[in-house]
Amino acid sequence: MTEWTTIGITPSGDAEATAVFASPDGIIYAPADAAARALDAMRATHFSGLPGKWLDVLGDSRSPGRIVIVGVGADQDEDRWRDAGGHLIEALRRLELDAIRLPASADFASDGSLAALLEGALLHSFQLDQQRHEPILATGAKWLVVDESAAPAVAEAQRRARSINRARAWVEQPANLLTPAIFADEAKLALSAVGVVVHVLGPAELEALGCGGLLAVAAGSDHEPRLVVAEWRGDPARHTWDAALVGKGLTFDGGGMNLKARPIIEKMKFDMGGAAAVLAALEMAAARGSRANVVAIAPMTENTISGKAYRSGDVIRSLAGLTIEVVNTDAEGRIVLADGITYAIREYDPAYIVDVATLTGLITGVLHEEYAALYASDDRLAEQLVRAGTDTHEDLWRMPLTKRQDYIVESAVADVINYGPSGFVGFGPGSPAAGAKFLERFTEGRPWAHIDIAGTAWATRRTSRTGPGATGFGASLLDRWLDIVDGEGRVQDRP
Ligand code: BES
Ligand code: ZN
Ligand code: ZN
Repeated sequence: MTEWTTIGITPSGDAEATAVFASPDGIIYAPADAAARALDAMRATHFSGLPGKWLDVLGDSRSPGRIVIVGVGADQDEDRWRDAGGHLIEALRRLELDAIRLPASADFASDGSLAALLEGALLHSFQLDQQRHEPILATGAKWLVVDESAAPAVAEAQRRARSINRARAWVEQPANLLTPAIFADEAKLALSAVGVVVHVLGPAELEALGCGGLLAVAAGSDHEPRLVVAEWRGDPARHTWDAALVGKGLTFDGGGMNLKARPIIEKMKFDMGGAAAVLAALEMAAARGSRANVVAIAPMTENTISGKAYRSGDVIRSLAGLTIEVVNTDAEGRIVLADGITYAIREYDPAYIVDVATLTGLITGVLHEEYAALYASDDRLAEQLVRAGTDTHEDLWRMPLTKRQDYIVESAVADVINYGPSGFVGFGPGSPAAGAKFLERFTEGRPWAHIDIAGTAWATRRTSRTGPGATGFGASLLDRWLDIVDGEGRVQDRP
């Protein structure tokens, strides 16, 4: 079972210090009994209040009680508070404090600030439980002590952080411990707990359906593939489905016959980040009581070599009936997603389709870790997704997707090819656009978007949400997007 730990939040208990938050313009967020001393200490030390700076103020006989002042920077949007929650955790670790008291809800400018602060603390204290005999962070802080008035903020922070951390834990879990079958079982367990109905299809069902894409990619592995189908009916009175979220779930991508080389192959346990994101988003939306009707679909498999593996040059038949020329067995994500998209269309007739995938290495050299690539067939959908990402600080950058690029996926022998043309200097085949154009062929003209998270699913540097490691990118964004769909009317309601 994939497990992780975070700092705990408790409404009662002893704390060794009080946390105070301060901005460069001298605004402080502090309990009344700590504010004056915190201000004195800040003046005396010229404390900047910048993010990442903190000040440890010890008590003495006249004014007992230790105070830790944490900088939150100037523009206090939600993300700054999430960031400050992370810096609080870093301060606690350095100071070897076990428990710290936080200001009350009313000491912050808004309820949203405290929720984001707590979310940041829960995300930055995340640690995958790998059952080491000696925990890596022996001095990790254990408790944040909050006022009872913080209960709504705590609940909101836990709703978000729990799902994001679940996605991160899955992504960081190595492929021997997270096989497709284990991943599917864990998804079913987690999502059922919030009222999502989860169906898991195995090889026999996939065979009967004709999921030739997923089965071809899975053929080389001794671990059976799975297709996870998770339904959330937020509005049972409506019989239509607002959205299908389809996530790439490669528990390991060795490349197959087109074997990956160092130093990339050992990173490829992360190749199920799309599946993790859509499942986590559905859990978040369900826990919020979203009124959207949405299904998450996650094809799960490994891509490895054996005598049974699919080969470079094979022609395979997808669930849609379209034949695929497999020039490169390492372009497997689009093949399994194609079957996922077809399954979504056939079984749910969704108004919108959004797929999320660690699809192309090349995108990491274009958008790096700050933006995920967005390809969309529908402007309104694209605009909503970009806005959702801005709100949650998971930025998307829209890329061109036009008819002029149709030639990129034309095959001489099959309906579609899984590899782009090389172009004048040879960089064409692995292009993110080739991936998007391939997927587009399976969307039957529906409003659809593809989010390539190959660069954002794993951070090499600290971010406002996480330390280096899996980020859970996409989960909050899609939860927010479902909220936007709810508020702005559905596709069927359009004039
Ligand atoms: N999972 C990889 C994408 C990837 C590669 C993400 C490296 C992060 C770092 C995907 O399945 C893949 O192998 N894509 C190929 C496509 C190519 C063979 C057309 C790639 O990016 O090299
Ligand atoms: Zn691959
Ligand atoms: Zn892959």
